[in-house]
Amino acid sequence: MKFFIDTANLAQIKEAQDLGVLDGVTTNPSLMAKEGISGEKNVLAHYRAICEIVNGDVSAEVISTDFEGMVREGEALAALDEKIVVKIPMVKDGVKALKYFSDKGIKTNCTLIFSAGQALLAAKAGATYVSPFIGRLDDISTDGLGLIDSIRVIFDNYGFDTEILAASVRHPMHIIECAQIGADVMTGPLSAIEALLKHPLTDIGLAKFLADHAKSNS
Ligand code: E4P
Repeated sequence: MKFFIDTANLAQIKEAQDLGVLDGVTTNPSLMAKEGISGEKNVLAHYRAICEIVNGDVSAEVISTDFEGMVREGEALAALDEKIVVKIPMVKDGVKALKYFSDKGIKTNCTLIFSAGQALLAAKAGATYVSPFIGRLDDISTDGLGLIDSIRVIFDNYGFDTEILAASVRHPMHIIECAQIGADVMTGPLSAIEALLKHPLTDIGLAKFLADHAKSNS
């Protein structure tokens, strides 16, 4: 399973990249706003800066919700760097835009997926990735991981190339269960990725090894 980091924070992207396990980055307008990035020039420059850090796909989301606007924005984003994946919301014109970019060989990530039907439609339109938001479904007492499972079955039934990018990942158990189900990619915060490192028995064991070593070398 590929690991993407879900942030526009350059320091966190660099930290995940330095860990050696990063396969890509996802951003969204809220994450860009959180970093104080605004204005077309600054937004494009920030995507360029992300592409310089990471070796892998970088999802950059369009703001337009009409077909022409999505095409205009998506083409400008895709021209920035070959790592850019145009992130398109799951709306009617978005499906048309997915097909347009797919026909042109431009990678896409269909975002705001909350049902298997939406994922199927995006895959049929040629999306490179679909992003089901598991954390937000969990937030409303709906089975986010169950959605990943349903999409996995559907995509495998028909051999779709579209990759399942489990999004809105909140904690390490989401990552582990996504890997068990067979999501192709997960995107989450640095905290969820780093939480995979931790186990109290590792800490206790290491402290004992170091204490024993110190004793026998004193
Ligand atoms: C997906 O690409 C989104 O950026 C993201 O995963 C949304 O996560 P959130 O529900 O934590 O905002």
